[in-house]
Amino acid sequence: MNFASFYLTKYSAARHDDCVHAVLQMRICYMKTGSTIDFNHVCKRYGEVTALHDFSLSVEAGEFITILGSSGSGKTTALNALAGFMSISSGDIRIAGKSVADLAPERRNLGMVFQNYSLFPHMSVAENVAFPLRMRGVPRKDIDGKVRRALQAVRLDTYFARMPRELSGGQQQRVAIARAIVFEPPVLLMDEPLGALDLKLREALQFEIKSIQHQLGCTVVYVTHDQREALAMSDRIVVLRDGCIAQVGTPLEMYDRPCSRFVAQFIGQTNLFSATVDAPGYISIPGLGVSWSDARASSTAGSHFVSVRPEHLARRSCGDDEVRIDVTLDEAIFLGDVIDFSARHSSGMAVHFRESRSPSATQLHRGDAVSLAFSPRASALVPDL
Ligand SMILES: Nc1ncnc2c1ncn2[C@@H]1O[C@H](COP(=O)(O)OP(=O)(O)O)[C@@H](O)[C@H]1O
Ligand SMILES: [Mg+2]
Repeated sequence: MNFASFYLTKYSAARHDDCVHAVLQMRICYMKTGSTIDFNHVCKRYGEVTALHDFSLSVEAGEFITILGSSGSGKTTALNALAGFMSISSGDIRIAGKSVADLAPERRNLGMVFQNYSLFPHMSVAENVAFPLRMRGVPRKDIDGKVRRALQAVRLDTYFARMPRELSGGQQQRVAIARAIVFEPPVLLMDEPLGALDLKLREALQFEIKSIQHQLGCTVVYVTHDQREALAMSDRIVVLRDGCIAQVGTPLEMYDRPCSRFVAQFIGQTNLFSATVDAPGYISIPGLGVSWSDARASSTAGSHFVSVRPEHLARRSCGDDEVRIDVTLDEAIFLGDVIDFSARHSSGMAVHFRESRSPSATQLHRGDAVSLAFSPRASALVPDL
């Protein structure tokens, strides 16, 4: 279970535009990988409330999986069930193929990081990080080296003597991460670990967490309500809605092929146009007065939405199969590299599109008539769920 070797070669802090990204360059060789995790039809009820409903998920060894959902959707319940902090109502959870039903939390050997740092306030940084090692009876002679390496991994090795109250929020959370990885757990659980931090610090720490996970090879189950964070960090994302899994997939799959109106709207920004699917083989958006022949229409029927991402609506041509809509510009929001436009169709329907910054894009103004096109191939047809 030990590192074969762990070398911290160097780190540097680089400034990109106005945004500080800590760049961690480390070379760590590990002999191990993370554990697989299997949730099999897990249910958790709190009295009348079903917090988790028929939750089944297999996580690969070394995978970074994110449970994404709004507040109250059951994310913490899923994580706590895995950690063993509460009993489940039915179903089974396996870590590395073994059922953990009868295993107390401390015997599951999981590293955990919570949103609210949860450092021991009366212990120094080094004592906090050493705590899991002491609990596990690691020989005293090995503790200092392990603590130093874990603190190096989060770039706080010079802070070992500080007390938690002498650290910023971001530094406290890095100590919490060091404490979670110091015993080299095969599984790391993180419940909204960056939720209390400001945007730039969050982005820097997202980068560090990914880097640490790559080096450790551990399996990470990460919980967030922030879809951008989920897209940025995950190998796969699980979208939870009212205790049920709405969709599981890679960030690209979730973004390009959402399975429902809910997921299309939850992940990324999109235009959702109410559509009718007409046999044989036509999709129409009555509100925009457009329709086109589409193979997807032959295999589906009923109330649907066409989801078109703002970056897939363009003033230029999108190819032979393009669908054109004429709109009038309302607002332009300059975001540096891109400009977000909100516009309105003559029917009153709002249309959002996005362009890279260019002389022609910066010259668009409120009231301008704009002809936009999208390719049906770049759209998703989603049921009204
Ligand atoms: N100890 C509890 N007793 C009763 N209901 C709870 C308890 N913990 C969570 N819940 C309920 O279960 C649902 C899911 O909660 P939780 O897993 O904390 O959601 P999330 O972490 O996504 O915000 C919510 O409706 C919440 O109110
Ligand atoms: Mg929660």
